[in-house]
Amino acid sequence: MNIAVVGTGYVGLVTGVALSEIGHHVTCIDIDIEKVKRMKQGKSPIYEPGLEDLMKANIERGRLDFTKCYEEAFAEAEVAYIAVGTPEKADGTADLRFIEVVAESIGRHVQRDTIVVTKSTVPVGTNDYVRQLVEKNLFENVNIDVVSNPEFLREGSAVHDTFHGDRIVIGANSQHAADTIEQINVPFGLPIYKTDIQSAEMIKYASNAFLATKISFVNEISNLCDKLGANIEDVTAGMGMDARIGNKFLNAGIGYGGSCFPKDTSALVQLAEQAGQPFELLRAVMNVNEKQKRLLVEKAKERFGSLQGKTVALLGLAFKPNTDDMREAASITIAQELILEGANVIGYDPIATENAKKVLPGAVAYADSPEEACKTADFAMILTEWDDIQAVSLEEYKAWLKEPVLFDGRNCYNPAEAAEKGIQYHSIGRQT
Ligand code: UGA
Repeated sequence: MNIAVVGTGYVGLVTGVALSEIGHHVTCIDIDIEKVKRMKQGKSPIYEPGLEDLMKANIERGRLDFTKCYEEAFAEAEVAYIAVGTPEKADGTADLRFIEVVAESIGRHVQRDTIVVTKSTVPVGTNDYVRQLVEKNLFENVNIDVVSNPEFLREGSAVHDTFHGDRIVIGANSQHAADTIEQINVPFGLPIYKTDIQSAEMIKYASNAFLATKISFVNEISNLCDKLGANIEDVTAGMGMDARIGNKFLNAGIGYGGSCFPKDTSALVQLAEQAGQPFELLRAVMNVNEKQKRLLVEKAKERFGSLQGKTVALLGLAFKPNTDDMREAASITIAQELILEGANVIGYDPIATENAKKVLPGAVAYADSPEEACKTADFAMILTEWDDIQAVSLEEYKAWLKEPVLFDGRNCYNPAEAAEKGIQYHSIGRQT
């Protein structure tokens, strides 16, 4: 098939590259000409393991191209994917501005009967609105079908997830559109679930909201474990053996971040409010997450009394490993809180430092290695479980830090071993 993909963020670029990899001819559109030039050379604007290799291979095969120009992309396109952002507005609802602009542009540029596929996460009902916008702007006498095809990729393992995901969801109100998008996706070899448009839109929100709920639930349990003398890892191992619960996504930590869970839970809460069906549970999930981001600072205050004048090494700044994404990272809240308490902060991240500089308080200093950060610091906090951070030994912490105190937001070490090595170790939901 000839496919146009509008938007080359995480979702759009990975989708476009993956569709070319399974044999389709894909043209990705982006308004940023410099970005287009770099992508044409096989350079990815995002850090995503494995993506550039696939980009280069498919550009060489002549199946993948990039352009700024809708005319060029729509000269042959039979299917148009919308993969632009739906950021959070100040009131918590999803901002559909980019979707609107793209839908109108698609309307003006389609040359033939076209299926418009929405990959972006959009509130229930948005695909109907997309169809209206496309149809209102048509110059040609063509037929437009709209399909909801939400993505379930995780940043940092997006390429892997594309080829090994659990399912592909296709929401359509016409058999022809559903069958065409199914055919496009068959080579991925994944289970395909077909439904109506509204249900597909809801599957995406419900899935992210449920995963966020799982994390906040386990974080609440971990805080109880702290107080009552249980061990969260043993508790989740025992819980996870129940197939109805499952053993994934049960890692307690410092709250979920990133570009998806915070924005999508908030959008679903607003959607529920507008529908007159307030989503109390999800509100609690969001509140628990805010509280959890502050947990390590609370633990540090409890340990030291005052943090005035202390220097703290923050190890890992991205919202999770294998990404340079700082959106809604717990490190932002933690750095702000530490500075409010009068502490100095020195941050380290193997990849995200440049992005961190844009969003962390200006007073934060940066180091090029865990060693450099720790040698300047009184004590350290582990915020992201990057491999190179987990590779630091307890002996090294002991040697580097002024005071051998480690707050671990990702439970990277064994508390008994840390105690043996002379580290005062404070982790999540485990006894020190
Ligand atoms: C998430 C979903 O996992 C994807 O399925 C979905 O497609 C994507 O949102 C999206 O809507 O686009 P992502 O935000 O990339 O993917 O990252 P996750 O790996 O899900 O992690 C999210 C956050 O939860 C991270 O801050 C992570 O540290 C935290 N987390 C995750 C935990 O604290 N505990 C866990 O057990 C798992």
